[in-house]
Formats: sequence, structure tokens, C-alpha cells
Amino acid sequence: MKLKVMSVFGTRPEAIKMCPLVKELEKHEEIESIVCLTGQHREMLQQVIDIFGTKVTYNLDIMQPRQTLTTITTSVLEKIEPILQKEKPDVVLVHGDTSTSFVAALAAFYQQIPVGHVEAGLRTFDKYSPFPEEMNRSLTGRIAELHFAPTENNRKNLLQENITNHIFVTGNTVIDAFQTTVKPEYQYKDEDVQKIDFTGKRCILMTAHRRENLGQPLENICKAVKRIVEEFPDIEVIYPVHMNPAVRDTATAILGDMDRVHLIKPLDVEDMHNLMSRSFLVMTDSGGLQEEAPSCGVPVLVLRTETERPEAVEAGTVKVVGVEEAVIYENAKLLLTNQAEYDKMAKAVNPYGDGHASERIIKHLIEWSDSLQNKE
Ligand code: UD1
Ligand code: UDP
Repeated sequence: MKLKVMSVFGTRPEAIKMCPLVKELEKHEEIESIVCLTGQHREMLQQVIDIFGTKVTYNLDIMQPRQTLTTITTSVLEKIEPILQKEKPDVVLVHGDTSTSFVAALAAFYQQIPVGHVEAGLRTFDKYSPFPEEMNRSLTGRIAELHFAPTENNRKNLLQENITNHIFVTGNTVIDAFQTTVKPEYQYKDEDVQKIDFTGKRCILMTAHRRENLGQPLENICKAVKRIVEEFPDIEVIYPVHMNPAVRDTATAILGDMDRVHLIKPLDVEDMHNLMSRSFLVMTDSGGLQEEAPSCGVPVLVLRTETERPEAVEAGTVKVVGVEEAVIYENAKLLLTNQAEYDKMAKAVNPYGDGHASERIIKHLIEWSDSLQNKE
């Protein structure tokens, strides 16, 4: 009998980190792999599915404009139940800390199906920051049977919560993805990026979308970036703006009429990774960018008050600068004007993996399944 694995995901970052794993699952004859998308994201999810050519069996297609946490939760819970009952997978794989991850894990639990948590054990230990991700991942960790932790530090976080069984340190599958997308002679597909003349310029790649940063913090971030662009004539800021209207409204209001700030549509992951690897600096509140940029030696200023990814901070390539305008501005200015400070941060470090996380996850999955059969 084949091991039936259902991978459930629904947002852009989950897709970027789960598609390499799905591809690897499909190589195994002893595994039947099914993919169920929740569709918490629509266009931003489809972009990733298209790039990886992932075969999708189900799409719950739940996204609504300006959706709330409650609507995501109730829609996924209701729509996934009949699929779990029909498919009866041996294990459901979920990823990280989105509402999709937590709700899919809960739905699997209701059917008494074991859950494997990919990217397990990240914590800030602050219930409200990031919101609602910290609670999503803690609750998913409580439900999960198998915990695929990217780093040793993530494993320790789980032990601290008395989660002690079936923790496997595997690296992060984001590095598996990154190693397939970045290419030396890459040509951008996005027309807005193609049009930018980078000659003699330094590029700041920026993203910001977190729920707790909406409103005043995002205004502060945009104002700091505006000051930097006004002061440094060789800076081009590229900001692929998240499709959340609450993000777009603020970004456009503050940065919309600046010549050297490019507010562009979300980039597909190949364009994004290649642009990142050629950037001078990354400024972001995203989780994924904190993992990717260090591996290509690009410094990262984190536009948040905390991070659940301390590894690259400890290595010196990522700095958490908060959400106050003056502090963000001063930190960016320092890196733009002080070569020694820049060089200290611009070194390639890779605490998040070696590009083989998916293989390790599958090895542990198969061993776990074999151990269950031996008990029968
Ligand atoms: C979600 C995750 C967050 C993750 C982020 C990655 C939750 C609660 N939040 O936040 O952890 O970091 O994804 O990007 O799970 N929209 C579109 N098209 C899309 C995607 C989004 O129009 O393809 C718009 C819709 O109006 C939607 C809104 O963005 O209602 C917000 O999307 P949602 O998934 O609720 O929140 P994110 O901020 O994307
Ligand atoms: N990303 C992308 N296009 C963009 C912005 C981000 O492909 O326009 C990628 C980025 O490289 C990373 C992931 O999306 O792999 C991060 O997703 P996001 O910032 O939406 O979520 P988070 O990681 O904060 O949960």
C-alpha cells in the first residue's frame, strides 16, 4: 500500500516552500501525493504554482477581497472536510504559520488524520506578534504528530513547549526553492523591472505586508524610505506591493509619485529571487526574505520589532530595526554611507539549509510510516 500524503497550502510563501517538497514527493513510487490548495491567496498563489508546474488536485478557492481571519478560518474548515473524508490521506502536510496551515491542521485532527508540520518550531513567544502567525504556528505544533524544524534553534523552541516526539531538523525548503530559481544570466520577465536602468545605481528591494504593520507602522516605513530616496540620488527602490488593498493604499499615498520608487505588481518568484540576489539592500517585514537574502550575501533590515528567525541576526547579516521612521532611516543611511558597516553585513551565510530539506523530510516521513506498520 502506498503512503498517501496530502499537502495543503494556500498563500504565496507556503507555495514557494511546499512546491519543491511536492516535486520530491512525486519522485517516490511508494508515495501517493495529492495537493489541496485552500486558495487563501489567488493570483499570488497561482504565480507560484505556474512557475513550479505543480499538479493540483483540489482548490477550495476561498479568497475574498479584504477577507478577515474568521472568514478564512470558517471557509477552509467547511470546505476541506468532505475532501479529507473522501481521500482519507495517511498524513496531511501543512506549512508554517498562516491561517490556512492552522485550520488545515485542525480539520485533519477532526478526522483523526496525523499532521506533519513543515517549518515547525519558529517562535517569538509573543502571542500578538506576529499576529496571528505566532498563535497559528503554536496551535499547529500542538496538533502535529511530526515536526520538521528548519534549525536546531527551532527544535529547542518545541522542546521548551514539551513537544518532544518526532522532531526532525531538516533545513528550510525555501533554500531548496532558491537554488532552482537564481541563475547567472537571468533576464527579468516583468516589464516594469525590465524598464529600470540600474547603471551606476544601488537597488533597495523592499516588501511590507504584515497585519500588525498595517496603518501607522507601514506609514512610518514608507516615510523613512521616502527620506532615503530624497537624500541618495543613486538609489532605486523596487517595492513589489502585496495585493492586500490596505497595503496598496498606504504605499501609493506616500511613495506613489516618486521617480525612483517603483511600486510594482507582485513579482513571480524567479524574478523576485534574481532581483534580490542583485540588490544592494533588502528592507522587509517578510519572513521568507529574511531566510533567502542572507544566502546571497545581501544585508536585510527587518521592519518589525521582533523576529522568529534569530539565526541570521546572530550571524550578522540581518538587523531588526523596528517600525519607527527615524530608526529605519538611520539604519539604512548607515549602510548606504559606511562601507565597513555594509561589509560587516554583506556576507553570505546559510543557517536555513543546504537545499536538501525536502529529501530529509521525506526520508523521515517514510521511516515514521514504516515504524507504524511494524507496530501493527
Ligand atoms: C497571509 C498570511 C501571512 C503571510 C502572508 C504572505 C494569514 C492570516 N496571513 O497574509 O501569514 O505572511 O499571507 O503573503 O494567514 N489578495 C489578493 N490576491 C492575492 C492575495 C491577496 O487580492 O493573491 C488580497 C485580498 O484582498 C485579501 C488580502 O489581500 O483579502 C489579504 O490576504 P490574506 O491572506 O488574508 O492576508 P495576507 O496579508 O496576505
Ligand atoms: N515573493 C515573490 N514575489 C514578490 C514578493 C515576495 O515571489 O513580489 C516571495 C519571496 O521571495 C519569498 C516569499 O514570497 O519567497 C515571501 O512571501 P511573503 O512576503 O508574502 O510572506 P512571508 O514570508 O512574510 O510569510
